[in-house]
Amino acid sequence: MASLTSHLPAPAIEVLRSTRNASLWALSPVDAGLRRIQGRSALPPLPLRRHAGRASIFEAAALHMSDAIDRLGLLTPDANVLDAGCGAAAMALQWQSRMGPGFRYTGFDVHEPSIKWCTKHFAKDPRFTFVYADVSSAYGKATTPLDAFSFPVESESIDFELAKSLFTHLLPAEVEHYLAQTRRVLAPTGRALLTAFLFDDTDLLFQTPAFPFGDPGSAVRWRLQARPAAAIAYGRAYFTKLVEEAGLRIVTFEPGYWPGHDAVPLAQDYLIVTPS
Ligand SMILES: C[S@@+](CC[C@H](N)C(=O)[O-])C[C@H]1O[C@@H](n2cnc3c(N)ncnc32)[C@H](O)[C@@H]1O
Repeated sequence: MASLTSHLPAPAIEVLRSTRNASLWALSPVDAGLRRIQGRSALPPLPLRRHAGRASIFEAAALHMSDAIDRLGLLTPDANVLDAGCGAAAMALQWQSRMGPGFRYTGFDVHEPSIKWCTKHFAKDPRFTFVYADVSSAYGKATTPLDAFSFPVESESIDFELAKSLFTHLLPAEVEHYLAQTRRVLAPTGRALLTAFLFDDTDLLFQTPAFPFGDPGSAVRWRLQARPAAAIAYGRAYFTKLVEEAGLRIVTFEPGYWPGHDAVPLAQDYLIVTPS
């Protein structure tokens, strides 16, 4: 059943988000002091970690993803990598000490404070570039229309693209545009790992209580009534169709352990795609 928060109107959700952010910035000096004592000062400030998801698992989630990428053989130490929706550089922090001198990384995000922190933090490492994505979205302040936005890298240049917890915040038009951009930037042998919440849209009776909103039988469902971009799930057949229409094909699908009937969806489904 949907929680009370799920039904709040958009202005109430905005008030809650602003209050949470203000509290996190107020707590930031304490958090920074604790991190210094623990020798973990390389981490971004608390509000930026929270922007990327649950702050308490910022590093653990990145480590989990890094292990999965190694297991799936998606990354070499001299790869040209794109991190779409990179947030506060959780993955770049994992890779910085492990990758070789030929490694090239570009991360982009609509959240300007995160990109400012990343740019400053990695300023002395020429392998890493961070770009503010000037495109309208529910997560940033930019107003440039979606159609005018391109991923900030050359066509067919990327060996590996990661979109970790990005498609779980994109509306259908954004999904189509970002898949088309993924197709454009991937090298012919390049691969992208996209994470998503995918439910079984071939079974019309399948319930997705973690995503209670959306038309009955629809292939797009979301968690907070007034803010679909907070967490959005797609029917697997519908998402596959969008991937294929973008000129990509799915080479591997790994189901996550988000249950589809739990209040808080956790680990997402993985799709590895490549140019078709
Ligand atoms: C759940 S966070 C994940 C961040 C990062 N990938 C990580 O795993 O730590 C989702 C990120 O997507 C970003 N985002 C949302 N919409 C976006 C868009 N249209 N283009 C680029 N980034 C976007 C948000 O600002 C946020 O940093």
